[in-house]
Amino acid sequence: MVRQRILSGIQPTGNLHLGNYLGAIRNWIDLQQEYDAFLFMADLHAITVPHDPRRLAADTYKVAATYIACGIDPARATIFVQSHLSAHAELAWLFNCLTPLNWLERMIQFKEKAVKQGENVSIGLLDYPVLQAADILLYEPDLVPVGEDQKQHLELTRDIANRLNFQYGSQESPLLKVPEPLIREAGARVMSLSDGTRKMSKSDPSEQSRIDLSDPPEVIIKKIKRAKTDQERGLWFDDPARPECHNLLNLYMLLSQQSKAAVAAECASMGWGQFKPRLGEAMVTALAPIQTRLAELMGDRTYLEGILRQGREKAASVANVTLTRVKDALGYSRPL
Ligand code: TYM
Repeated sequence: MVRQRILSGIQPTGNLHLGNYLGAIRNWIDLQQEYDAFLFMADLHAITVPHDPRRLAADTYKVAATYIACGIDPARATIFVQSHLSAHAELAWLFNCLTPLNWLERMIQFKEKAVKQGENVSIGLLDYPVLQAADILLYEPDLVPVGEDQKQHLELTRDIANRLNFQYGSQESPLLKVPEPLIREAGARVMSLSDGTRKMSKSDPSEQSRIDLSDPPEVIIKKIKRAKTDQERGLWFDDPARPECHNLLNLYMLLSQQSKAAVAAECASMGWGQFKPRLGEAMVTALAPIQTRLAELMGDRTYLEGILRQGREKAASVANVTLTRVKDALGYSRPL
């Protein structure tokens, strides 16, 4: 039986944080057992905001190592670097010419990031969701497991696929497979430690707002100690007036692998002074094995290079078939 496929990626900008882990990577780990998994480092996306060329390659390798350290099994999943396959940029160009500009202008992430960059906003930042659509549609995945913030980009991907199918495909043989987003409720929105109404983000200038996967124990404990809280006594989930309380309980639940009911009962009558050390402890315990494995992997560049070479070959064998089909449908001649 042919296994269904998943595809997802992360931008190698800065360190990965708990939101990337709980919103994305942890779900991939569960899914890789059952699905054919294609997981990549979105390094073409990484230059849509100002970047440091001296760090791009190293950061990309580190994200690959982090996938594996978190539990992605390279023997099962195909792990690859986006920029190692020219098909992504090429399909993105074809999509560019077929996507209405106003579909991109309403993307929330563009509007948010554009405000921060003022006059330096690049065309790449606006065009980013089209590249993302190419990333996805090249591999014909059934599901795309991501955090909540990617929902709108996946809707755009589906819109682009449907538009091309309508214009260039036929009912019997659609040109592109229309994928479904997979956004798991648990972990889909990990919020900032400084403000429970904003998501935890790599681009937040304050390091205190997030926990990086490579933060050492003392840093984790300190960040949790300083995390924003409130004056209430007792801790409970789902209170819109207490976003920080909900977020920290949620993190505790996910990292200690307990049920919501168990955490609610355990913490109902706690104060912050009692709860925060438990949360810090649970975080340190959950991240310790990942950090140990990451350090080992970062010391074995040859092993990582081998994984990425294999990944690229397997990815290319799928991506090039889709790209050729789209080019044929658009009327291009094939190279002789
Ligand atoms: P990126 O690099 O911003 O984030 C990678 C993944 O982490 C999830 N995520 C979060 N989940 C929960 N809470 C948070 N605070 C949080 N912050 C980030 C994101 O939802 C995402 O799943 N455009 C993508 C990269 C990309 C991609 C793709 C993803 C490029 N092409 C094709 C899927 C398929 C991005 O910038 O993710």
